[in-house]
Amino acid sequence: MRVNRADRIRATLEVPPDKSISHRSLIFNAIASGAATIERILESEDVRSTARCLESLGVPIDWPAGSPVARVAGQGLHGLFESEEILDCGNSGTTMRLLMGLLAGHPILSILTGDESLRHRPMARVVGPLRQMGAHIHARTGDTLAPVVVKGGGLAGADYHSPVASAQVKSALLLAGLYAEGRTTVTEPAASRDHTERMLVAMGASLRIDGTTVSIEAATSPLQPLSLRVPGDISSAAPWLVLAACHPDAEMVLEGVNVNETRTGLLDILHAMGASIELLEQRTSGGEPVADILVRSSRLRGITVSGSLIPRAIDELPLVAVLGCFAEGETVVRDATELRAKESDRVEAVVEALGRMGARITAHPDGFTVKGPVSLHGARVDGRGDHRVGMLGAIAGSLADGETRIENDAAGVSYPAFWQDLARVAEGGMISA
Ligand code: S3P
Repeated sequence: MRVNRADRIRATLEVPPDKSISHRSLIFNAIASGAATIERILESEDVRSTARCLESLGVPIDWPAGSPVARVAGQGLHGLFESEEILDCGNSGTTMRLLMGLLAGHPILSILTGDESLRHRPMARVVGPLRQMGAHIHARTGDTLAPVVVKGGGLAGADYHSPVASAQVKSALLLAGLYAEGRTTVTEPAASRDHTERMLVAMGASLRIDGTTVSIEAATSPLQPLSLRVPGDISSAAPWLVLAACHPDAEMVLEGVNVNETRTGLLDILHAMGASIELLEQRTSGGEPVADILVRSSRLRGITVSGSLIPRAIDELPLVAVLGCFAEGETVVRDATELRAKESDRVEAVVEALGRMGARITAHPDGFTVKGPVSLHGARVDGRGDHRVGMLGAIAGSLADGETRIENDAAGVSYPAFWQDLARVAEGGMISA
């Protein structure tokens, strides 16, 4: 795709439904006793991967192509069948890691794989603790990489201290904990997103949350189905928040965005950098806090982002590098080694993309430093088949002089209408294939 500098940023936009909640609404309802209706589910490649895997495991899911509504016929806690096929998780780490936890509770044989990116992402973080709980689980290259083979059943609860703040790891272990004798406890170094906890509690599971420690008891009664309407994804609002804050003539309203505080690190970062941003109409939807967000052109100053802010902004951190290009002084992201274990090495990807566009950006092992302000210029950007990198290239391109060409774009993984929305938002930006 080709993008030019936008003359003006103006739009009111309802961002796509939350990806994390969409995955979980399918997976958790698959093991509920009864049927659930999920309204405004995210129609994207990643969520389709989850639906296909669950169907292979014998869960009827009525979700016609293009439909915002999915109906899941829950099979109860012990109703999954052995799949005749290898479960293909596509590009989706959430699908693979959460299913590993779920399948560890079932006495069936499952093989999970994914695309080339997913087959190179770390799986030992889930394999290790599940094996500690008693699952028979193996993975390629010394139990670190997919494909993964799981033969579940016979689990015992564990008290696990995760070295990484990861909602995927935490969710996998809580799912396994539903099937484990006794109590399963997960402690994280900092709080990661808590959608799993909220949904499992709403379905009747027995959870205890104490700071960054979550415990779950083995399920002794069936899970209630949970029908819900999925709120907007703050990770899909993020490109627009950053574009509007950096552009000199911008005003946008993003409607119905999930502002769960385990996800709002970018809002805190924008506030600290001096951005003009307001939360309007705060309300609740699907058990999550939701708001409309008003964002305008802003004078930004550099800050350091680290510590417990990192998991609260994990998918938005690459965009912080764009903010850094337009901010006065130095913007530093550290404690973010996890960025290197996403759909691509996002430290390398961002430093390369923005570096080509004229940014003064350097990589560190656990993040990056950007010196601003600079004027970005158009360049060829490699999206590396990573949805967040391609979208970052498009946002930077809308703020840069000349033409930016984005190659290997994969926006469809989380935001299928991204390019159409960009054409609406970025007036005069000349977006073409
Ligand atoms: C997700 C958790 C995050 C995030 C990913 C989705 C989830 O990963 O990066 O896009 O839905 O649980 P980690 O929990 O592994 O950091």
